[in-house]
Amino acid sequence: MKISLIAAVADNGVIGKDNDLVWSLPDDMSFFKASTRGRYVIMGRRNYESIPHKYRPLPGRPNIVLSRNADYDASPADLVTSLEEAIEIARKAGETECFIIGGGQVYKMALDAGVIDTMFISHVHGEPEGDAFFPEFDPSEWTMNVIDDHPSDERHAFSFTICQYDRK
Ligand SMILES: NC(=O)c1ccc[n+]([C@@H]2O[C@H](COP(=O)([O-])OP(=O)(O)OC[C@H]3O[C@@H](n4cnc5c(N)ncnc54)[C@H](OP(=O)(O)O)[C@@H]3O)[C@@H](O)[C@H]2O)c1
Repeated sequence: MKISLIAAVADNGVIGKDNDLVWSLPDDMSFFKASTRGRYVIMGRRNYESIPHKYRPLPGRPNIVLSRNADYDASPADLVTSLEEAIEIARKAGETECFIIGGGQVYKMALDAGVIDTMFISHVHGEPEGDAFFPEFDPSEWTMNVIDDHPSDERHAFSFTICQYDRK
């Protein structure tokens, strides 16, 4: 099973603020939805709670929520207390590509664990204020290809570049 990560990251590393996103980028959201549709998605408890009630669990894809609190009620999403457990659930279900979908703590945990094969990062060209960050990574360990360059327009306050990073 391939393990992928998908994130939108500002030029200053910011991914969120006050447990919310700091931008509305509908075309990037469409890329996220298309990429993860039907796939297992693995996320931190704070990310899960940041999704409005009516949109969670994210529809059309099995949701797995990570918490250190085994009593946390994530239903109808699956709850796990370790990343390994999350990956094992997806693997046992016959998934071919699962996605780590954040937030900052979970991205860092997955990168530190060395389990990520591919990262899809939308580099958002701005420096908004925030309190959640994407971890630093060494670009020399990855082969990068640009998937799309999206200008700013009336629906997108920031331009962004979607890049695919495959581990060398
Ligand atoms: N721009 C993007 O692409 C993007 C994507 C996703 C999220 N976000 C943003 O990111 C922010 C949330 O990120 P965050 O870093 O605050 O939180 P997070 O990574 O979503 O969740 C953190 C929680 O995950 C659980 N956890 C962390 N490490 C664990 C471990 N080793 N074992 C078991 N459980 C573990 C803990 O839950 P318990 O406290 O319950 O134990 C922890 O509080 C929000 O602002 C959100 O909007 C941005």
